[in-house]
Amino acid sequence: MQTLDEQLTSAETFLDDSFYLLLERMRKEHPVYWTSGLNGARFWSVFKHADVKRILLDGVLFSSEREGVMPVMDETLSAANRDAFGPGEMLIAIDPPRHAKFRELISGPFMPGAVMETSAVKTALIRKIFDDLPADGIIDLVDDLAAKIPMTIIADILGLPQERCADLLKWGKMALTSSDPEYSGGDAAATTEEGIHQIRECVRKLAMPRRRCPHADALSALATGAIDGLALTESEIVQNGTLMILAGFETTRNSFSGGLLALLEHPDQMQLLRDDPKLIRRAVEEMVRWANPVITLMRVATRDTELRGQHIKAGDRVVIWLASANRDDEAFENANQFDVTRAPNAHIGFGFGPHTCLGGPLARLELRVALEELLSRYEGFEVRGKPERTQANFVGGLKRFPIRLIARSSAAASRELQFSANATPTVT
Ligand code: HEM
Repeated sequence: MQTLDEQLTSAETFLDDSFYLLLERMRKEHPVYWTSGLNGARFWSVFKHADVKRILLDGVLFSSEREGVMPVMDETLSAANRDAFGPGEMLIAIDPPRHAKFRELISGPFMPGAVMETSAVKTALIRKIFDDLPADGIIDLVDDLAAKIPMTIIADILGLPQERCADLLKWGKMALTSSDPEYSGGDAAATTEEGIHQIRECVRKLAMPRRRCPHADALSALATGAIDGLALTESEIVQNGTLMILAGFETTRNSFSGGLLALLEHPDQMQLLRDDPKLIRRAVEEMVRWANPVITLMRVATRDTELRGQHIKAGDRVVIWLASANRDDEAFENANQFDVTRAPNAHIGFGFGPHTCLGGPLARLELRVALEELLSRYEGFEVRGKPERTQANFVGGLKRFPIRLIARSSAAASRELQFSANATPTVT
C-alpha cells in the first residue's frame, strides 16, 4: 500500500483518472500538506481552489523565478527542472515587477485583438488539417489532430518551417513529460535537458539571423525586441522563443483530446452542442477545467507566511495542484460533473494573476474552431482503443486515442455514438 506522499509524487498515479479521488481526499483531509518526494525532495502541496488562486495571484511572495515552475517531486530532477524554465530570462519564470515589461514585449500576437484580427487565417489553417483527414476512417485523435492544430498555428505565428514541427513536438514531450518512460528511456533528468537543449538550438538557429534580417513574425519581433532601450540578449531571445513553443503544444493538445474524451463519455453533453453550437464557447472552458492539461505548478515562498494554519517558511517549495482546484466543490457547483453549459466557470486551467496564460485567447480560438469542425463534419465518432494517458503529474493528458471518424453520409447506419471504456468499438 503506497503512502499519500508516494501516490502524489509518483507519476504512475496519473495514468488513469482515479487520481481525482486522491486529490478529493487531499482537499478534504490535508488541503495544505507537507509532502515528501523522492531522494529528499520536500514541498508543500496546496489543493484548494481559493488557496491555489491566492498563490498564483501573489507572484512576489510566491516566486516563479527562484526555481522555475516545473515541480521538483524528485530531488535528482531539481537542476534539470529549474534550467528548463530559464529562471530570470523566460517570461514564465520572471517575477514581478520585471515580469510586466517582458510580458508587454512578447504579448503582441497573443492579445485578444490580434488573435481576433487573424482569426480567419488561423481558422483556414485548422480547416486544412481537417481537410487532410479521412472523410470516414480511423485516426489517432492525439497525433493526427489534437497535436497538429497548436503546432501548425504556433509555427505560423513564429515563422517556423513546418518541417521542423515533428521534431519540436518530440523534444517538447522529452522536456515536459520525461517522467513517462516512453519518452525518457529511464533517465528523466537527461531527457528533460536534451529536449530543452534541442528546442533551444533550433530556436537559436532560426531566431538569431532574424535580428539583422527580420521577417513579419513573432520570432523576429522577439529577436529585435528591447526593454527600456536595451536589446534582449541572445539567451533571452532563445529562452522566450522556446517558451512559446513549449507552452502551447502539449497544453492545447491535451485540452482538446481530453475534452473530446469527456464529450464521448457524456453523450448528452455532445448532443447539447450539436443542438446548440453557440454553447461551444462555454464547452471550451469546461474542456480545459475538466482535462486539466497543467496538473501542477511550482513556486518558492520568498518570506515566511501561513496558509490554513500551516507555517510556510521562506525558501520552501510550494506545489499548487490546479487539477485539484478545478474540481473543488467550494468553487464549482457539481464540480465532478462535466457540464458544457457551466456558467460562470471560474476554472484556473489557464492559471491566474500575473502569469495567467498569455496564449489563452489563442488556445480558446483553436479549441473552438476544432470543435466546430469536428461536430459539423462528422456525424459521430467510434472509440477504437483504450485512450492512454501520459505518465506525468506536471503537464498531463492523453498520448493516444484511436477513434473512427464517421462521415455524415455513412451515419444512417450508425446513428449515435456510444462510448466504451473497455475499448470495444461501439457505434449505434
Ligand atoms: C489550452 C491550452 C493552454 C493551457 C491550459 C495553458 C495553461 C497555462 C498556465 C496554467 C499558465 C500559467 C503558468 C504559471 O502561472 O506559472 C500558462 C502560462 C503561459 N502560457 Fe499557456 N496554456 C495554454 C496554451 C498556450 C498557448 C497556445 C500559448 C502560446 C504560445 C501559451 C503561452 C503561455 C505563456 C507565454 C505563458 C507564460 C505567461 C507569463 O508568465 O506571463 N499557452 N499557460
